[in-house]
Amino acid sequence: MIEVRNLTKRYGDVTAIHDVTFDVNKGEILGFLGPNAAGKTTTMRVLTCFMPATAGTARVAGYDVFQQSLEVRRRVGYLPENAPLYMDMRVKPYLEFVAKIKGVDPRERDKRVRRVMGICAIEHVSDHIIGHLSKGYRQRVGLAQALVHDPPVLIFDEPTNGLDPKQIIEVRELIKSLAGDHTIILSSHILPEVSMTCQRVVIINKGTVVAMDTPANLNTKLKGSQTIILQVKGPVKDVLTALKAVDGVVEVKTKGSERDSVWRYDVESHPGQDIREHLAAKVVQNNWGLMELTTVGMSLEEIFLQLTTEEEGVQA
Ligand SMILES: Nc1ncnc2c1ncn2[C@@H]1O[C@H](COP(=O)(O)OP(=O)(O)O)[C@@H](O)[C@H]1O
Ligand SMILES: [Mg+2]
Repeated sequence: MIEVRNLTKRYGDVTAIHDVTFDVNKGEILGFLGPNAAGKTTTMRVLTCFMPATAGTARVAGYDVFQQSLEVRRRVGYLPENAPLYMDMRVKPYLEFVAKIKGVDPRERDKRVRRVMGICAIEHVSDHIIGHLSKGYRQRVGLAQALVHDPPVLIFDEPTNGLDPKQIIEVRELIKSLAGDHTIILSSHILPEVSMTCQRVVIINKGTVVAMDTPANLNTKLKGSQTIILQVKGPVKDVLTALKAVDGVVEVKTKGSERDSVWRYDVESHPGQDIREHLAAKVVQNNWGLMELTTVGMSLEEIFLQLTTEEEGVQA
């Protein structure tokens, strides 16, 4: 549903994102997790046609965000970091106004506005002035404006930022209830938020994607499993099978680029087990060439340290 390929955005000398690539499947909630200044907002602004990228491409629902931005906008609901609310307007007239500028058929407008007010549970404040609402309710109005033209894709930039624990839970539940019918990207700098809400997580740091996995797998990685990189000269299929059979191996990935039949293997091991010598022995037993064996320092762990990993008062 969303395809991001090698996206780079520079602001003058500042490279905000570099070579960002990921996909979001239809009906999925993808967490876009990263510390401050990682490039989350920049990526989302490109995807919502707010500004062009410096390089790379992005497609939403099959349309290119640069060349077919009208088609993209029609299909995307966007909740920016600061919801675009008119504080002195009342809720329902505001949503009717947004529906109008988003091109909702005049005959459908009233029905649509009532529907999104129902979804976001704001019917009872429909004639309240937005500026008088609590932050949690304002955020719901922000979600309602993103939904009003019934877009299949939703992009929410740190939607629970600044809310109190009770409001956070409510907004999360609301977002979860939108999945399935919608494809959602949700950004956050809070680890538990994405683990609870999202099926898959992309971790971005200093403008580059550093990990992409399910919350469960990321958790294992966080708990200190180790990645060992091997360069082995030998028949790739056999090497792969042999490495996978070594005790303590969780996963082995090969990375293309064949050079004189030397392939790179990324071996992920169970936490707390040093399997380097077993891997080396296996390669040597088979008379393959062991060109390199290194462990990767858990850079992921360092990034996690910068994320908010606990939330006071929020219980799932
Ligand atoms: N309009 C801008 N002009 C210059 N630099 C910017 C601008 N917007 C963002 N940046 C820089 O780009 C980087 C990524 O920012 P941003 O996408 O807002 O990150 P995040 O949303 O993850 O906090 C940061 O270093 C930020 O200072
Ligand atoms: Mg941001």
